[in-house]
Order: sequence, then structure tokens, then C-alpha cells
Amino acid sequence: MRLQTRTIHTGVDKDTAYNSIMTPIYQTSTFRFADIGVTRGYDYTRTSNPTRKALEENIASLEGGAGAIAVATGMAAIMTVLHLFQSGDHIICTHDCYGGTDRILRLYQERFNVQVSYVNLQNTETLQAAFRPNTKAVWIETPSNPLLNIIDIREVSQMAHAHGALSVVDNTFLSPVNQRPFELDADIVVHSTTKYLNGHSDVVGGAVVAKEQNIAERLQYLCNGLGQGASPFDCWLVLRGIKTLVPRMRLHEENAKSVARFLSGHSAVNRVYYPGLETHPHHQIALRQQSGFGGMVSFEIAGDLPKVNHVLRSVKVFALAESLGGVESLIDHPVSMTHASMDPKLRQEAGIAENLIRLSVGLEDIQDILDDLSNALAAIPKSIV
Ligand SMILES: Cc1ncc(COP(=O)(O)O)c(C=O)c1O
Repeated sequence: MRLQTRTIHTGVDKDTAYNSIMTPIYQTSTFRFADIGVTRGYDYTRTSNPTRKALEENIASLEGGAGAIAVATGMAAIMTVLHLFQSGDHIICTHDCYGGTDRILRLYQERFNVQVSYVNLQNTETLQAAFRPNTKAVWIETPSNPLLNIIDIREVSQMAHAHGALSVVDNTFLSPVNQRPFELDADIVVHSTTKYLNGHSDVVGGAVVAKEQNIAERLQYLCNGLGQGASPFDCWLVLRGIKTLVPRMRLHEENAKSVARFLSGHSAVNRVYYPGLETHPHHQIALRQQSGFGGMVSFEIAGDLPKVNHVLRSVKVFALAESLGGVESLIDHPVSMTHASMDPKLRQEAGIAENLIRLSVGLEDIQDILDDLSNALAAIPKSIV
């Protein structure tokens, strides 16, 4: 079956009790044994649960992996992957990763002696020089958050493999509709299902998918041991969201393209970051490895913080909020919000400036979205310099 059909059917319709079309919410902590030592496949929800299993099968199938775990948040997904490694191991991470990824990697560095190098993964020479004999993983986030830089997954994954390291891809921004890292030689895919997979801003959740069975089994072991599993109700909501993933991603992209074009021609805007623009420095890689450009657009205001603040306060359709990937449009100021916890020096090196704004373009009528941005940008008082 093709991806869109799998979003609707895989893992879902297996209720043998009443033949329900939708996966029931098995809101139970435990399961009665049929006899001593005999279960019907489940004994305790931390270990496994039929609703969670349905979601895990669904996401594993969309990514084309051997198996998946559905966990409580995207950070739980990242943390579970980090438990594949041990003290003394070295991880190379993209230098402009999500702030939470940076925070947890620093914690692992400080408390558990995991070595971390932050590297510009677009530069293969710098990457080549960063490998150490103990490098165990390269952490790729593409498009990156918030600058939407594109990393060549195949090239970086092959370099990782040549050094005996795993390639891990955070695929939150594009979803399997627009990017399937396993087809590009990655080993592990991480998701914050909070974002596009669920798509309705009513769940925090995460998932990890492994290409190979042995890693999938290790992740399941860790998920149970660490107690990371997502609740049955949250899994049910994410399953429900995924059914409309394909049409949602198409409309997110259509609206984002219009926003990127509009901002590109605006005098109050210095620079627009959208991989779908031909002017984007990594547009060719995006064309090659993605099947779509996604719904995130970042831009720099021509001016400093007071002007940025003015725009953040003036928009009405866009809500000033962190997160992304929901049906509603959100506006974020990375320096004071999503990336506030990032080391200011690293932030500067990564090019995340104070005048940068990140948009999660939602599914509202495009004219309302453009009018909202147009009004907010037009209303910047001249006195604010
Ligand atoms: C790319 C990326 N990965 C991971 C996460 C963490 O996900 P969560 O907030 O669900 O823990 C986020 C959150 O914004 C993100 O943007």
C-alpha cells in the first residue's frame, strides 16, 4: 500500500472483539493473565499496550523501519536514543539543532561523560575532521530549527558508517510525507509527534523508528526500562492525526510557499529562510532528498529587537507560541523562546540572530495569513529604529 493509504490503515483496524474501524483506547494499566504464564500478548502498559502498538506499527510503516517506539514527548524520544550510548562515547551533532536537543546533550556531556561536538554538517571537511575513534553517532536535524538549513542525509550517513557510527535523523520538521531518511541510509529516525504527525496541538508525544530489527528491539527494551511509553489516549490522538497527514502537509506547504514569496518581496524583511525558494543555499539538496519543502518559514526583520517585538505583538491570526506543525499558524522568536536555553555563543555561531522570527504556517485561509503578516509589517512605527 502507498503512504497515504498506510497513514489511514496500518496498525489501526485490528479489533477482533467488535470489529471497530478505529483502534480502541485501551486505557488500562494492566491486563488479566489467561492462565499462569499465559497472556493475550500484553501484561502491563509500561511494557506495551495495544493502542500504543497500533501507533508504533503505523509510524514504523510510514518511515519504512523495522520497528518503532511511541513515547511521551519528542525529548523522551531523544533521551531514549541517547541511552543507546555510554560514558566515553562521542556524538557529533548539527550545530543549529533544536534548543532542547542541545540542552540534553550538554547534560549528558556534563553528567555522564558523553563527548559532544557541534559541527556544521553542511561542511564535509569539518565533519570529516570531527570524527574520533569513539564516535558512535552523528545527529542530523534537517531542515534545521530554526534556520532551515538542509543537510545531505545520504552523504553524512555514509561518512558516519565509514567511521562505524550510527546516523540519527530528527525528521520532525518534514514528516515521512516529505522525507524518508531510511531511503537515504540513516539508521534511526526521531520524531516529536507533538508537531506534524499529530498536527492538532493537543498532544505532546514522540517516536523513534529504527531501520534494523536489533536496534528496534533495544529501543523497546529501553522504552520499558526507562518508563517512556506514551499514554494510550495520546497514542489514539496521534493515530487520529496521522490519518490526515498527507493532505495537511500539502496545504502547509502551499501556504508556506505563498508566505515565503510574500516575505521575500517585503521591504521590512532582510532575509527569508525557506528551502523551497530557489534562492535558498541548499535548495538543490532539498529538491533531491525531499518530496516537499514543509510548512516552516523563518525570516529576519530589517531592524532590531523593538521592531521584532512590534511584529510579534501585532499579528492576530498567528499566535505567539512555541511549537509547530499544528493546523493553526504560530509565530516564534527563537532567541527569547525556543532557543533561549542555547549557549549564546553557539547560537551566534549557528547564525540565530536577535531579529529572526520563525513561522509555523498553518492551514487557515492563505489570504488571512498574508493579510495578518502584511498588517503587522506595515504597522512598524518609523520611530522604532
Ligand atoms: C526538531 C525538534 N525535535 C524535538 C523536539 C522536542 O519535542 P517535544 O517538545 O515533543 O518534546 C522539538 C520541539 O520543538 C523539535 O522542534
